[in-house]
Amino acid sequence: MGTIGTEVGGLRLANPLLSASGTFGHEDEMAAWIDLREPGAVVLKTVTFHPRRGNPPPRIVEVAGGILNSIGLPNEGIDHLISTTLPRLRGRTSALVVNVAGERADEFGRIGEKLAAGLRDHPQDFQAVELNLSCPNVESGFPFAKSPELASRCVRMVREHLALPLLVKLSPNVADIAEIALACKEGGADALTLSNTALGLALDWRTGKPRLGGGHGGFSGPAMKPQAMYLVFTAFKKTGLPIVASGGAETAEDVMEFLAAGARAVQIGTATFRNPFVMREIVRRLPELLQEAGLASLAEQIGRAHRPASGAKA
Ligand SMILES: Cc1cc2nc3c(=O)[nH]c(=O)nc-3n(C[C@H](O)[C@H](O)[C@H](O)COP(=O)(O)O)c2cc1C
Repeated sequence: MGTIGTEVGGLRLANPLLSASGTFGHEDEMAAWIDLREPGAVVLKTVTFHPRRGNPPPRIVEVAGGILNSIGLPNEGIDHLISTTLPRLRGRTSALVVNVAGERADEFGRIGEKLAAGLRDHPQDFQAVELNLSCPNVESGFPFAKSPELASRCVRMVREHLALPLLVKLSPNVADIAEIALACKEGGADALTLSNTALGLALDWRTGKPRLGGGHGGFSGPAMKPQAMYLVFTAFKKTGLPIVASGGAETAEDVMEFLAAGARAVQIGTATFRNPFVMREIVRRLPELLQEAGLASLAEQIGRAHRPASGAKA
C-alpha cells in the first residue's frame, strides 16, 4: 500500500476516496469525464431487488450550503446489476462497491443470495457491498437504520450469503448512532458508512408546496460536514468499527479532517456535481498535506483526534 493507500473493513484501497452512491452515475456514465480508476473505489447507485421508477420530478433543488434530493432509488433491479452493469464495469475500476437495499426486511436475504450467485460466476466483479439502510426518499427504506433490531437483522441476512467486506450505510437522523452501529456490528458488518443524507424540506413560500416532487428530501453538500464529522468521531470512539465518512467533503483538507476523526476512507458525493475532477485533485493534494503535517503515511492521520498527543479534547 502506498503512502495514501488505506484499508477499511477488509477493502483495500489505493487512495482513500470513494465515489458516493447515487452521485456517480448508475453504470459507467462518468467514464465520459474521468478515468474510473481515479477513486480508490467506485460505489454504485443503490440497487433494489425489484426495479423501481423513483420519485416524481423535480428530484433535486439547490439550497444554502448544499442540495436536497428526492430521487427515490430508481434502478433496474438486482438481476440487471448482475447481468449488465457488472460486466460493463469489469476491470475498469480500482475497486468496485455494490450498493444494495431491500424495500422490505425479507428482501435483504434474497439480495444477498443473488450477489453471492453473481460472485460465484465472476469472483472479481466487485470487492465489497455497501448496504443502504438509510435512504430518506423511499417510504420503506428508513426504518431499517432507525431500529437496532431491524438493522442487525438486515445485516445478518446479507452476511449469511457473503464473505466479502460488508459496509453498512446509516442515517444521521437517529438519537444514538453508536447503538445502531453496534447492532450492525453484531449482525456482521465489517464497516460503517456515515452517513446518508439528512432529512430536509424546501417549500415554495408562494404556494406553500414542497419544491421537490417527492415532498421532503435528503440534504447533502458542504453544510453537512460538521454533522458527518460528529457521527464519525462518535462512532469511532464508541464502537471502534472501521468507518467510511460521507457528508460534505469537498477538499483534501476535508478528507484529512475526516481521517483525524476516525474515518479510514471518505466518500465524495455532491462535490462531484460541481467539479467532476474533484477526486483527482484531492488525490494529488493529499501527499502535500501529509508532508505539511509531518506524517509518513495516511494511516498516521486516522483517528488522530482520539490520541492524547494530538491535543484534541475527546
Ligand atoms: C442526488 C443524490 C443521490 C443519492 N443517491 C443515493 C443512493 O442511491 N444510495 C445511497 O446510499 N446514497 C445516495 N445518496 C447519498 C450520497 O451517497 C451521500 O451519502 C450523501 O450525498 C452525503 O455526501 P455528500 O455531501 O458528499 O454528497 C445520494 C445523494 C445525492 C445527492
